[in-house]
Amino acid sequence: MEIVIQPTPAESTAAAAQLVARVIRRNPAAVLGLATGSTPVQLYRELIRMNLDWSRITTFNLDEYIGLPADHPQSYHTFMRENLFRHVNIRPENAHIPDGNAPDIAGFCGEYERRISAAGGIDLQILGIGSDGHIGFNEPTSSLASRTRIKTLTRETIRDNARFFGSEAAVPRHVLTMGIGTILEAREVFLLAFGEAKADAIAAAVEGPVASTNPASAVQFHPAAKFFLDEAAASKLSRADYYRWVYDNKPDWQR
Ligand code: PGA
Repeated sequence: MEIVIQPTPAESTAAAAQLVARVIRRNPAAVLGLATGSTPVQLYRELIRMNLDWSRITTFNLDEYIGLPADHPQSYHTFMRENLFRHVNIRPENAHIPDGNAPDIAGFCGEYERRISAAGGIDLQILGIGSDGHIGFNEPTSSLASRTRIKTLTRETIRDNARFFGSEAAVPRHVLTMGIGTILEAREVFLLAFGEAKADAIAAAVEGPVASTNPASAVQFHPAAKFFLDEAAASKLSRADYYRWVYDNKPDWQR
């Protein structure tokens, strides 16, 4: 794992954006796994600003609420349209988001997995992290081998996301999410986390034991994972000095 610590969210996002852009430039038909939430908003802004060619890019989003109409202001369909898709030349048929209104949820989940495989698998998966350690919407005690399926949100996540919905009562209880097993099959994983509220989750993910009670710790199994953090999110890492040392002493060929 590579832990990139930058002073501010803007600098950390800029570092991640450079590497995402490199993936797109090197492989104009890359398959990207995308995340929602407040964390990646600035990343998408940077990518839009870079004027990349998305015409052959395929994307798969991690998750979606069950039962929200796709055009609801807080659906992840709306989020992706407003924060990325309507600003780039991606073909609508290449941008996949779980369908939280599928009449046959289990059937849809199997189909989503098949679509990812048919696209050749995900080259680069972008992740955020919940304050409870979730990745996608894989809440604590999710199977580390899980695939795309329905999950029930924790009360902590419902509290965290109430800011988008105006009240806790308005946050849907159920979601569709790629599984941890699905996420770990991506060829590369970038996890972004900013702010003090993420410091415990990041310390547990990077330095804690791997456990289903802390889903992000499963990323320790991934052979090509990078964490992009600001100082606040990194503030509880006991080996932060080592991660800075590694970053500052990267051999030229690795930069
Ligand atoms: P946030 O959510 O980016 O809004 O903090 C992260 C997540 O829940 O994965």
